[in-house]
Amino acid sequence: MKRYLITAALPYTNGPIHIGHLSGVYIPADIYSRYLRLCGREVVFICGSDEHGVAISIKASKEKTTPKSIIDKYDKVIRKSFETFGISFDNYSRTSRQIHYDTASEFFQKLNSSKKFIEMTSDQLYDNSSKKFLADRFVSGTCPLCSNKEAYGDQCEKCGSSLNATDLVNPKSTLSGDKPILKKTKHWYLPLNKYENFIKDWILVKHKDDWKINVYGQVKSWIEQGLKPRAVTRDLDWGIPVPTKEAEGKVLYVWFDAPIGYISSTKEWALQNKKKWEDYWKNDETELVHFIGKDNIVFHCIIFPSMLKAHGEYILPKNVPANEFLNLEGDKISTSKNWAVWIHEYLKDFPDKQDVMRYVLTANMPETKDSDFSWKDFQAKNNNELVAIYGNYVNRVVVLINKYYEGKVPAPKFYTNKDKEIINSVKLLRDKIGFAIEKFRFRESNSEMINIARIGNKYLADNEPWKLINIDPGRTKTILFISIQIVSALAFLSEPFLPFTSSKLKEILKIKKQIIWNDILNFNIIKPGQKISKESFLFEKVEDKAISNQYQKLERNKK
Ligand code: 2FM
Ligand code: ZN
Repeated sequence: MKRYLITAALPYTNGPIHIGHLSGVYIPADIYSRYLRLCGREVVFICGSDEHGVAISIKASKEKTTPKSIIDKYDKVIRKSFETFGISFDNYSRTSRQIHYDTASEFFQKLNSSKKFIEMTSDQLYDNSSKKFLADRFVSGTCPLCSNKEAYGDQCEKCGSSLNATDLVNPKSTLSGDKPILKKTKHWYLPLNKYENFIKDWILVKHKDDWKINVYGQVKSWIEQGLKPRAVTRDLDWGIPVPTKEAEGKVLYVWFDAPIGYISSTKEWALQNKKKWEDYWKNDETELVHFIGKDNIVFHCIIFPSMLKAHGEYILPKNVPANEFLNLEGDKISTSKNWAVWIHEYLKDFPDKQDVMRYVLTANMPETKDSDFSWKDFQAKNNNELVAIYGNYVNRVVVLINKYYEGKVPAPKFYTNKDKEIINSVKLLRDKIGFAIEKFRFRESNSEMINIARIGNKYLADNEPWKLINIDPGRTKTILFISIQIVSALAFLSEPFLPFTSSKLKEILKIKKQIIWNDILNFNIIKPGQKISKESFLFEKVEDKAISNQYQKLERNKK
């Protein structure tokens, strides 16, 4: 049987996570994983904290502390945000753990001993006043490709290109503000130019039709510009030491070690669960899918696959469904300007509304282009869709069954053609939802999910069982039997999107058993005579006050 290895980008532990992270990476990855588990497939969903790199050193010096205390602090905050939001990782590791040091070191040694690197001494940017080589975020300058003035030494976040620090026009040290000098140093380079044909054939030919157009397009434009050797080592003091004598004092480039973090996190999980990690990374029967944001495309589609290919024993990703970015109230989310909705803050203000945020972020997911989150829309989606459609439907059915049958599911009498049509249309939606999730179309699947409740509401309104209770009690029973089947289908079909609501609803319906996706609506989840709860509360209205508080908070905190 096919296995799935699903990874979500390892977040840097230099700060907490915000709604952009959730909507770009973790919610789509979670919906996908939950759906596949519901289909009865074997899934391992992997993530962890990305704890090296210059971003962490910079944060540590800003907060006048050590990188270690920064990573410990934010690993805790991020881990808790994910847990509370129901992101169902099978393992969430840290790249500061020994298992990761060992895995990354072995990986480097294997490439080194099989002569996959070029060792080269060359002039690199150096800050003479702080006596540091300037790699990655220690240097900024103008991007030679798109003229963005705030590109970093390894990447331009505006156009997404991966850069070498010496490519920057007018480089400036972010440590001292000085213009860097050049100084010779030796580094280990992965000759990406040698992998150009492999990437071309693998992505541009073989995945022409099944990869997202934004991902495919970015890869194509890089290949057209030509790939260059890329240093995988750095002269920094925070990172995994390069495991070879000649490289004393040097560390691995964070983008060399971080994706290997997926492998070490899988190893950690396998050890805890008595599984073989190689079954997931070295077996063609496994489908590897990387969920990432668009700024990570080059690393997951060109650099990491070239590393895997150079190693020789690993499978390649089946897909890399990267999302674009989420804006906030029409402006780019920005940590430095504190223009963000932070997850740990949201959870303080709305402690039991994880599903509401999950729903709103899924409905607006930046799947093919950048999209926008606004608090007004958050309120509207909660009040007009979750409360008025989903919650209202469940409530009506549960209340009627309690009112007429003391909470016992009635037995149906006779199905009309219209009844059969309704059942079929919900089955069709079940298949549509599954199909859309498999194609990474989460917005569509989410809106089809809510359509089930719409159909249910319409069915009730069209059939008016409350008017028939004395005239045709058999008919009322049939209508409410079908209605409760649709409610129970909703309990399962909404699980990938709204896991907390799904389990509350299962409690209301007193459903204990687990079923697989294709059995949903086969009328065996909830049978005549089954007693359901009186309780039917799922969502509550978000009042204007709560929304104006959020607007005030954004304004108050912005820098
Ligand atoms: O962009 C980021 O936040 C990186 N920390 C993502 C790393 S993904 C992986 F390769 F580890
Ligand atoms: Zn650029």
